[in-house]
Amino acid sequence: MLQVLQLFKEMNGKQILNDINFTIEAGGSLAIVGESGSGKSTLAQLIMALKQPTSGQIIFNGQHLPRKGIQAYKQWYRDIQIVLQNTASTLNPAMSLFQCMEEPLKNFTSLNKAERKTRILEYLDKVGLQKELLRYRPGKLSGGQYQRACLAKALIIHPKLLICDEIVSNLDIVLQQRIIELLKSIQREQGLSLLFITHDLSLVPGLCEEILVMKDGNKIEQFHTSDLHNERARDSYTIALLKSAEMLEAKWMVWKESGPLLESM
Ligand SMILES: Nc1ncnc2c1ncn2[C@@H]1O[C@H](COP(=O)(O)OP(=O)(O)OP(=O)(O)O)[C@@H](O)[C@H]1O
Ligand SMILES: [Mg+2]
Repeated sequence: MLQVLQLFKEMNGKQILNDINFTIEAGGSLAIVGESGSGKSTLAQLIMALKQPTSGQIIFNGQHLPRKGIQAYKQWYRDIQIVLQNTASTLNPAMSLFQCMEEPLKNFTSLNKAERKTRILEYLDKVGLQKELLRYRPGKLSGGQYQRACLAKALIIHPKLLICDEIVSNLDIVLQQRIIELLKSIQREQGLSLLFITHDLSLVPGLCEEILVMKDGNKIEQFHTSDLHNERARDSYTIALLKSAEMLEAKWMVWKESGPLLESM
């Protein structure tokens, strides 16, 4: 279980996160939604121990966020993995895809060479990539293939919590849906806890049980996904976010229907 308690972060005299509190139960899922600059990625970086909080606590299964000690960090990263939006640095450009996927298995498990290969093939298949790609360097992968490879690399060591920071934002709507479906099935199969960060509220229903809305570093509200459309209960900011997500969706529908027409022009 992940507990985030009274979390504050200040950077260069600016309050980036202001008293953030939430928990994610084992196997639970929470979406963090908010417009650009609301502090979502900063929160993810704090949970990944990439930055230290100004004050407050982050506790995972009774363990506090590590501040020092290689073993403590190793255990933290064994349990919590993150996938970021199309970062070319996630997969080492000098390695083959096979070597990229093998790296976390060497670092975090005691699997032997044959077992590692079996696990790599298993996860490649899970994310819908063909094994022929394993010989390729990451630079040869398409955007969607790259994102799926990052997901496979994060999941291959069986983490307990997966953090996804805008992982589908740059992908077309078909790939977005494929990745969301994939996350759902892996969550079901492995009892994985999920923290799904996005600025697009329309992606959340069906994937996460709870939604936490952030604005300017503050938690505006948190509610069960089934209450998303209850306008009387929702904060006006959440309603505005929802309306803009619906507008985007409508635009996509128009684009999808008129796409062939536009292409022929
Ligand atoms: N080193 C820094 N010093 C001061 N302010 C910073 C620093 N790094 C980030 N910020 C500010 O922190 C705020 C939160 O940034 P963050 O990247 O967490 O937002 P976000 O919600 O992830 O946005 P996006 O949706 O665009 O990814 C922004 O206003 C940003 O300008
Ligand atoms: Mg961000």
